Amino acid sequence: MLATGIPRQNAPEPPGQAPTAAAARSRPALRSERESLSDLELSGDLAGQPPGAIRYFTRDDLLRLPQVSYTVTDDTNFTGPTEVSGVLLEDLIQRLSAAPDSDMLVAICSDHYKAYYPQVYLAAHHPFLALKINGQPPAGWPRDSETHGYDMGPYLISHASFKPAFKILSHADYAQIPWGVVRLELRNEKAIYSEIAPRGPQAADELVQAGYRIAEQNCLRCHNMGAGTKSGRPWLVLSAWSAASPQYFADYVRNPRSRNPHAQMPGNPGYDDPTIGALIDYFRTFLESPQPPSPQKPRLHPGSQDKP
Ligand code: HEC
Repeated sequence: MLATGIPRQNAPEPPGQAPTAAAARSRPALRSERESLSDLELSGDLAGQPPGAIRYFTRDDLLRLPQVSYTVTDDTNFTGPTEVSGVLLEDLIQRLSAAPDSDMLVAICSDHYKAYYPQVYLAAHHPFLALKINGQPPAGWPRDSETHGYDMGPYLISHASFKPAFKILSHADYAQIPWGVVRLELRNEKAIYSEIAPRGPQAADELVQAGYRIAEQNCLRCHNMGAGTKSGRPWLVLSAWSAASPQYFADYVRNPRSRNPHAQMPGNPGYDDPTIGALIDYFRTFLESPQPPSPQKPRLHPGSQDKP
């Protein structure tokens, strides 16, 4: 058999961090090899697995976990009320995470787009990994609603319903509903966000902090400190633009096509001047800092190329 999950009890554990007996019992075995294109990749801080390991769940493995089922009416991936069922991300974290501080799930799509699920988001919105839509497996799913006609499988993420839980300047909390999800990664939320924490003497300024929060939910999905992102433009390139040409930066964030007819980045036409200003102040802190950026952690796909 390919299942190689090592029971959690055998893994070394810092004192005081033992999982509950129920969590240990309910930890499903992970597979060390892919069996099918529809398998879900799992990586990051996985319980009982060596660092850097990539493991798999088949669709059937996921269907054996407790399922939630909703009639979803406000998910823009669907054109009307839709029956969607699957597994809560909070449940997956509880079953798979190596340690209590591996508390964040990152959903990664085939085009390197990433959706981040921090604790506040999980608690407010209870996102779930969809396995069935209108009772159907991915082959019977509707095509993406932006009329590109793409297949939305092998996995997508949805919510029973979504109401924005916060607003920062003109950025409102918005639904993280990726489709084409191929991998879930267990990560430490603090480590992920501290990688993009503002630097230098202005770091604690109110506007800089506001820009930081907005960038966490928005920009980080397609840009980050290193490679392997959807955009292929790392954080320091955005920083360079924020300082060298705040107008280009502002235009690009609001309406990328006004600067680049081939832009794939979605615009943020609702961002007002203070919001754009906060982003500029935030991104500039990376250039003003006397400290060089912290060294890169090894990436999961060292050989993968960013799409142009
Ligand atoms: C859904 C993915 C996505 C998100 C979210 C996103 N970007 Fe982008 N961004 C891209 C892509 C892809 C490019 C590369 C050019 C293109 O296709 O538009 C890009 C390019 C850029 C550029 C131009 C860089 C250059 O060298 O010309 C800037 C500036 C930029 N992004 C800023 C931002 C900021 C600031 C945010 C957050 C407010 C953000 N982006 C959020 C995908 C994204």
